[in-house]
Amino acid sequence: MEMIGLRASAGMAALLAGVATPGLAWSQPAAPAAVERPSAATLTPLPHGVELREGDRRMRVDALTDRILRVRVARDGRYPEDASWAVPAAVRAQGAAVTAAPDGFATAALRVRLVGSPARLVVEDRDGHVISADADQPLTRDGRGFTLRKALPQGEHIFGLGDKTGSDFDRRGNSYVDWNTDAFGFTSSQDPIYKSIPFFIGVGGAGGSYGLLLDNSWRAFFDFGHRDADTIALGAPDGPIDYYLIAGPSTADVVRGYAALTGPSPMPPLWALGYQQSRYSYMSAAEVRTLAARLRAERVPTDVIWLDIDFQDRNRPFTVNSQAFPDFAGLIHDMGAEGLKIVAITDLHIPALPGAGYAPYESGLAGHHFVRKPDGSLYVAPVWPGPSVFPDFTETSARRWWGTLFKPFVADGVAGFWNDMNEPAIFETPTKTMPLDTVHRVASDDFAPRDASHAEIHNVFGMENSRATYEGLLALRPDERPFVMTRASYAGGQRYAVTWTGDNLSTWDHLRLSVHQLVNLGLSGFAYGAADVGGFAGGPSADLLTRWFEIGAFTPVFRDHSAKGTPRAEPWVDGPAHLAIRRRFVETRYRLMPYLYALADQTARTGDPIMRPVFYDYPEALNASCDQSMSFTLGKALLVAAPPKMESPQSYDVCLPAGGWYDFWTGQPVAGRTTDGADQPIQSATQAAAGPRTASLRLTEQPRLDRLPVFVRAGTILPRQPLVQSLSETPQGPLALDVYPGDDCAGVLYADDGHSLGYRRGAFLRQTVRCTVTPTGLSIRFAAREGRFTPWWRDIAITVHGWQGGGEARLEGRRIATQGDAGAGTLTFTLPAPRGAATLTLARN
Ligand code: NOJ
Repeated sequence: MEMIGLRASAGMAALLAGVATPGLAWSQPAAPAAVERPSAATLTPLPHGVELREGDRRMRVDALTDRILRVRVARDGRYPEDASWAVPAAVRAQGAAVTAAPDGFATAALRVRLVGSPARLVVEDRDGHVISADADQPLTRDGRGFTLRKALPQGEHIFGLGDKTGSDFDRRGNSYVDWNTDAFGFTSSQDPIYKSIPFFIGVGGAGGSYGLLLDNSWRAFFDFGHRDADTIALGAPDGPIDYYLIAGPSTADVVRGYAALTGPSPMPPLWALGYQQSRYSYMSAAEVRTLAARLRAERVPTDVIWLDIDFQDRNRPFTVNSQAFPDFAGLIHDMGAEGLKIVAITDLHIPALPGAGYAPYESGLAGHHFVRKPDGSLYVAPVWPGPSVFPDFTETSARRWWGTLFKPFVADGVAGFWNDMNEPAIFETPTKTMPLDTVHRVASDDFAPRDASHAEIHNVFGMENSRATYEGLLALRPDERPFVMTRASYAGGQRYAVTWTGDNLSTWDHLRLSVHQLVNLGLSGFAYGAADVGGFAGGPSADLLTRWFEIGAFTPVFRDHSAKGTPRAEPWVDGPAHLAIRRRFVETRYRLMPYLYALADQTARTGDPIMRPVFYDYPEALNASCDQSMSFTLGKALLVAAPPKMESPQSYDVCLPAGGWYDFWTGQPVAGRTTDGADQPIQSATQAAAGPRTASLRLTEQPRLDRLPVFVRAGTILPRQPLVQSLSETPQGPLALDVYPGDDCAGVLYADDGHSLGYRRGAFLRQTVRCTVTPTGLSIRFAAREGRFTPWWRDIAITVHGWQGGGEARLEGRRIATQGDAGAGTLTFTLPAPRGAATLTLARN
C-alpha cells in the first residue's frame, strides 16, 4: 500500500466536522467528542493502521483484529523489535481491515483517533463512546525509561495484574511494580511478589471494558490513580514501548481477547482438578505410604500427593534420596494403584558440582546452557543445594536440554512437575535474585540472537523455565497433557503451567487475599491458580483450615500445602468434627467434576476463567450494595458468597444478581428481599420456579462454620457424578443432571479420556442441554453430541428443582417413570443418555 503523508488540512477539518467524503466509510459519532486536531503531527496510513510523526516522536497503531490494537513507539527513530515472549508471532502477524480517516482509522468495531497536541490516542466504539484515551502528557521519557499516561475516568475499576496483593479485587487507587520476587510470608499489601503479568482490565468506563497488555519484561510499573486520581501511569526503565489495547465491550470479551493474544490455559489432565495433598516435605516413601493409606481410610477423595525438596538427594534437582525413597518407581507404581498421582518438585538451580558425576551440571556445562557473568565466567550463587548455576532458559537449546532431564522421572511414572524458586530466588543477597548485569543469551522464537541483561530477562525467566519443562514433557510424552506448576511467570505463562500464589500465611487475612488473587489471576489469563490451603507458614487454627477447605474446594486448583516446622495441615488434624466438614466439601467438588471439567473445556477454547468475579457474567454486580469482597462465581452457574469478614460471627448480606437463584445445598429457590426498594415482598418458591424473575435479591446470611453459601443461577443445568475417591475411578451410576429452571437455561456435558491430547483430534464428547419453561411444565432438549468420545455414563438421572406436584415425562414421546417430592420441590427420573438430539417434555399433573 502506498504510504501517504497526511497533514491536517482544510478538507480534513471539514471531515472532522462531519462532512461525508467519498471513499471513507465514516459514520458520525452519536455525540461527537470535542474535535481536536493533530497540530504538527503527520499521520500516515498503514495497511492495518496508522503511523504518527510529531517532532521526534514516532508511533504506530496497528489493528490486529477489529477489537485488538497494537501500539509501538520508536526509540531513536527505530521501532522495537517485532518479537515477544508473551504474544506468539502468528498472532502478532494478524492484521484487520481498516478504513483510513483524517485523524486515524476505523475498524469494524472501533475508531482510533489521534487528537490534540501532543497527539493523544483515543479509542472509541463506533458510536463515539470512549473506550481508552491517553491523558494530556501521553508519553514522557527519562533516559531509556518511559511513562505512558491514560485517562482514568471516575467510575472505572481496574482488575488484573495477576495475583498481586491488595485489600480488594479492585486495583484502583494503588500502584504496583512488576519484578518477580521470592516473597516468603508476604503481607496482603506487599508488592512485588512472585509474578509479573503486565495486563490490566478497565471496567465501568463509557465505552465498556478494555484491557491493556504492556509487553515489556523490564521492571515495569503501574499506577492506577494512586499519584494522580484521574490518571493511569505505566512504564518501565527500559525496553520496548509496545502495548496492546483490547476493546470489550464486556469484561468477558476482553479476557477472551487477551486469551486470543497470549493463548488460553490448555486442558489440564483431569486428575489436576482433584484434591491434592502436599507438605514441605513428606520425608520418606514410608511417610508417603502412610499418608496415602490415611487419605483412603478417612475417605477424603484425593488425586495427588506432592513431593517437595526433601525427596531429593541433598536438595539436588533431578535426584532422589535413595535412603528415604529406596524404590522410587515402586512407590509411584503403588500410589498409582491407589489412584494417586505423584507430582515432584524440580527446581531450576543446578548445584555446581564439578567432577561429582552430577549429570545435570556436567551436561549443562558441556552444552553451554548456564547463565554467565559479564566477564564470561559462570554465575554461581547459593540456593537450596548450595552454590548453584542457572539454566539460560531464553535459549531454545537450553530449554531443550532442560526438557531431557525429566526423562528418568517420566519413566518412573511421575505425573507432573513443580517449578519453584524460579523468580529466580537466590539466597544470601538482599535483592533475593541475580545481579542485574548477569548475562542471558536470547536465541529463541523470532528474537534476533543477542545477549541480554538480567534486568531485561528477570521477569520472563520463570515463565521460560516452566515452558522448558512443559515442552520437554511434551517431547517425552507427545500425546500426554503436561502438568507443570510454576511460581514465577509472565504474560502468556498460562500456556505452559498452572500457578499458585506462593508462600502465604495461615491467617484469615490471607484466606481473603487468596480469593482476590485467584480471581485476578483468572482475569489475567491464568485460569488455573491455587493458594496453599491452610496457609503455608504459621499453622492454621482448626476453624481457619476448615474454612479454607470449604473455599478451596471451589477454586481451580485445590492443594493443601504447609511449611516445614509448622503444625500439620492434613484434613484430619483437628479431629472428626472438622474432618467431616472438610471431607464434605472435598466430596462436593468431586461430585461437581463434570461441571468443572466442562468449564476446563470452555477455558481451553475461549479463555473464560473458571473462578470469576461476579461481575464477569453479571455486570450489575460491579455496583452491588453488598460487600462482595468474598463472593465469586465458578463458571456462570455457581455463586459462592463467603463471609466478607471471615472470622466474625456477624451476619452479612449477600446480593444476588437479577434472574433468580437456587440454594446449591437444598435445591430450593432462593427467597429474599429485592434490592430495588426496601422491604419488597419476599419471593415465594413457586414464583421463582414459575420462571425468570428480573429483580436482584438481597439476603442476610448468618455465618456458620459448616456452611458456605453457594447459589445456582436459575437457568442452569448442572452435571454431577457419583462420588469417587480418585478421578482415575470410573463413576458407578448415572450422570446426574440438576435442572434449575430459569431464563436462558442451559448446561454442557463434556468428557474425554482425561489425559491425552486426543480431544484435539475429535476424541471428546460435548453436548449442550437446554430447558424451557412451558405453560404445562418444562421441556429439556439435548443437542446432538459433538465429538466421538464415548463417556462413562450410560444413563442420566434428572432432578428438576422448583417443581410443584407430580409430573409426566416423555422422551421423544416415550413415557418415562417419574417421582415427585413435594417437600423438596423436585421431580426426578432417569433415562438412557441421548446420543442424538432429543427432547424431553415434562407436564405437571
Ligand atoms: C518455596 C515454595 O514456595 C514452597 O511452596 C516450598 O514448599 C518450598 N520452597 C520448599 O521447596
